[in-house]
Amino acid sequence: MAEFNKKADDAVDATPNVTEVVHQDSSTTGELEAIIDAPVDRGEPILQVRNLVKHYPLTTGVVIKRHVGAVKAVDGISFDLYQGETLGIVGESGCGKSTVAKLLMTLEQATSGEVFFKGQDITKLSGRALKAVRRNIQMVFQDPYTSLNPRMTVGDIIGEPYEIHPEVAPKGDRRKKVQDLLDVVGLNPEYIHRYPHQFSGGQRQRIGIARGLALNPEIIICDEPVSALDVSVQAQVINLMEKLQDEFNLSYIFIAHDLSIVRHISDRVGVMYLGKMAEIGSDEEIYEYPTHPYTQALLSAVPVPDPEARAHRERIILTGDVPSPANPPSGCRFRTRCWKAEEKCSTDVPLLAIPERFRGHETPAAHESACHFAEVKDVVGAAS
Ligand SMILES: Nc1ncnc2c1ncn2[C@@H]1O[C@H](COP(=O)(O)OP(=O)(O)O)[C@@H](O)[C@H]1O
Ligand code: SF4
Ligand SMILES: [Mg+2]
Repeated sequence: MAEFNKKADDAVDATPNVTEVVHQDSSTTGELEAIIDAPVDRGEPILQVRNLVKHYPLTTGVVIKRHVGAVKAVDGISFDLYQGETLGIVGESGCGKSTVAKLLMTLEQATSGEVFFKGQDITKLSGRALKAVRRNIQMVFQDPYTSLNPRMTVGDIIGEPYEIHPEVAPKGDRRKKVQDLLDVVGLNPEYIHRYPHQFSGGQRQRIGIARGLALNPEIIICDEPVSALDVSVQAQVINLMEKLQDEFNLSYIFIAHDLSIVRHISDRVGVMYLGKMAEIGSDEEIYEYPTHPYTQALLSAVPVPDPEARAHRERIILTGDVPSPANPPSGCRFRTRCWKAEEKCSTDVPLLAIPERFRGHETPAAHESACHFAEVKDVVGAAS
């Protein structure tokens, strides 16, 4: 817990790219300037997602099926994941986060778009080539209570991936490998013959993580890995994941609906709304200089421990329900809940790009945001 909190404190204090911030008026922006050191060199992306789309067909009729539309679960998403970084993806339930995870894992076939793993489009692969890529992209699931087969021992659960990829661990080596993995995730290697019900939620998630590590992947996609756990246990699991990231040079995509959890572990954060990416940037850019109204609303709902900051912060209460992804609003999808919406928002789809007013300015506000009227709003307390 102490380590977790320390990371949180560091995240607030450390602004490594910004040597000086002249914060004139955060609500009118434009003038908001910061002097930034050389941009972070992240190297080559390990994963490049381009215009990724997943539409689930909606049909009627039992015998003769007729297409009557589509659930636009993911509707044109692009982002990069860099070697060794953690990209957080946040958004309300139903916005398409798990669908993105399944597409990256090639568990679902994309309707269109590309996913390049080290330059190779994995959406077009099959057979042996696909199998080789799958080994390198593994997943940790949300609910450790249902994602582990209750009838299998821990040893069989963790070692199961070796059935598909025997080249990683020949039969004679598997027991030792699984015991090493138990040790790596902080569990007693003697537990190899126990069953999932003999473990707590946090321990079960450690088993899920051990299974994710079994094939020595380069990327791990974590779909709400701590959402089902108590807060104190969440901290332990996140600390473990950070430790493993350093140890095995892993790149993470960390999905959550809670912005406060994502901040602790993420280098960059993408905010999703109704199948699209609303805003993406470094953790500092998103948490301290959010320019998209949806991000600002999510941040205003994050609990603030400091009573003084809490007293000054503005709560943005979103009205209305999330529209159906089968029939998203025209123009900007957020417009039915946005307090800033204007005529243009119903006709023109805002592109995810650095807003024109910030382009060429050395300010943390100059990050990608899909809003026609992007401006920084200082959501008081969001940075605490
Ligand atoms: N197999 C499916 N068939 C039809 N619709 C689906 C399917 N899987 C997900 N959806 C729909 O796609 C949308 C996004 O779902 P999901 O990716 O699970 O969102 P999240 O993980 O953000 O909660 C939801 O409206 C969901 O009902
Ligand atoms: S484009 Fe318009 S509706 Fe969409 S977030 Fe921006 S101001 Fe709101
Ligand atoms: Mg989900």
